[in-house]
Amino acid sequence: MEYKLVLLLYLSGLTFGITNAAINRTFPATVKFGAATASYQVEGAWNEDGKSENIWDHICHENPTYIVDQTNGDIACDSYHKYKEDVTMLKDLGVDFYRFSISWSRVIPGGVAGSPINQLGIDYYKNLVQELVDNGIEPMVSMFHWDLPEALQELGGWPNSQLVDHFAYYARTLYEELGDSVKHWMTFNEPKQTCLAGYGDGGKAPGYTAASGVADYQCTHILLKAHAKAYHIYDEEFRAEQQGSVGIVIDTAWYEPASGSDEDKEAAERGLQFNYGWYANPVVNGNYPQVMIDRIDERSAAQGYEISRLPKFTDEEIEYIKGTHDFMALNLYTATYAEAIEESDINNVGYYTDLNINQFVDEDWEESASSWLRVVPWGLRKTVNWISKTYDNPEIFITENGFSDTGGLEDDGRINYYKEYLSSLLEAILDDGVNVTRYTAWSLMDNFEWTAGYSERFGMYSVDFEDSDRPRTPKASAAYYKQVIATRCLVDMCE
Ligand code: NOJ
Repeated sequence: MEYKLVLLLYLSGLTFGITNAAINRTFPATVKFGAATASYQVEGAWNEDGKSENIWDHICHENPTYIVDQTNGDIACDSYHKYKEDVTMLKDLGVDFYRFSISWSRVIPGGVAGSPINQLGIDYYKNLVQELVDNGIEPMVSMFHWDLPEALQELGGWPNSQLVDHFAYYARTLYEELGDSVKHWMTFNEPKQTCLAGYGDGGKAPGYTAASGVADYQCTHILLKAHAKAYHIYDEEFRAEQQGSVGIVIDTAWYEPASGSDEDKEAAERGLQFNYGWYANPVVNGNYPQVMIDRIDERSAAQGYEISRLPKFTDEEIEYIKGTHDFMALNLYTATYAEAIEESDINNVGYYTDLNINQFVDEDWEESASSWLRVVPWGLRKTVNWISKTYDNPEIFITENGFSDTGGLEDDGRINYYKEYLSSLLEAILDDGVNVTRYTAWSLMDNFEWTAGYSERFGMYSVDFEDSDRPRTPKASAAYYKQVIATRCLVDMCE
């Protein structure tokens, strides 16, 4: 009897093991693979052909020590001149799509609604899109990847409500000029970086810190209205003819409860809601997550504010913002533990005290070249499951995932990262039934990594920034990704 039980347990364990391992399991035909970059990080040509200054040009030029290696994106990968080579690399990888962003100040140098359109700027993107289409690669376009025209920053940037109309004008211009070929639009990339880092903790341009817990919420409020307006413009004026889709790209780390206690579970959920939910809940349900509303209203009152630091949407605005997504997009790189803590000092006003959790990592998690990025593959499976559950099983695009090192062509760390995260994704898709239809590797090539300059490399192609021609060379990870795309199977895991 005992023997039979042991045998049964052994056999069921074996079956369980086999069905759950990634062995001989392939990505379903519904999953497309791509690679990503962003305008300021790769284009260069910062003042060519009518492009005006944007906030990243401005901060790098005016305050060089803001960037660790005091570099900038003046030339970057020179993709403005070398885009055909970029497309050749994409073609060689065999990707289904290329996710890139458009530089607003290249297309509308004056920034404001009604100001002249720079035909040479439009032509650059038309040529890039044509080159992609000619090579059978779908263009997937972010309208805003952090490089706000400086002219709009001088009006106050995102906390100024006029930006809703300025952005709407820009979005309409893009649909008009490129919408025949571009079928996937993303209004904003990682808006939390624009608002929380840009206007709260200072980690991204324009680098403001004076009004954390106020300006970051105001920025988000305006940005969400701008997103919704761009979405509705597509719906009302372009969708019937162009038949594309529009969404917003939101980043988060996975928040893992530090223990099984209810308090730590709540802390982790609060982490996800203050990060992903801050933007996702409005575009899905029309308003901020209830936990943000409750906590920020409460703390604001205790701090003596007559009105909450978290702005309110009117009923009409809630209806307008609700449902403004055709897909949910996720940029995910890493994970953190979340632990409940005592309520923060009430005099300490800011986003992080509103969130009020202790975040820490497991020192055993493998490091990358970026202090914020440790390798935690299971976080991907958990995050897409959480999105699926929280927002009623939407179609999910993974719009970024990747690993940094300090350079070199033998990038085993990156290969290992992709292999493990893709394996976690396979489990989410095949075992949990999560509806993920796109996976995007960040990045096609090494590029300007914001305040880290060129000191952290995310590319599958190396770029020689010392050489004025900016030659590109494939790394080992390019061959790896190519094989994954060709076989739809993680290398070494199919017979
Ligand atoms: C997020 C951003 O969208 C991208 O610009 C950045 O380079 C990568 N993650 C890596 O930090």
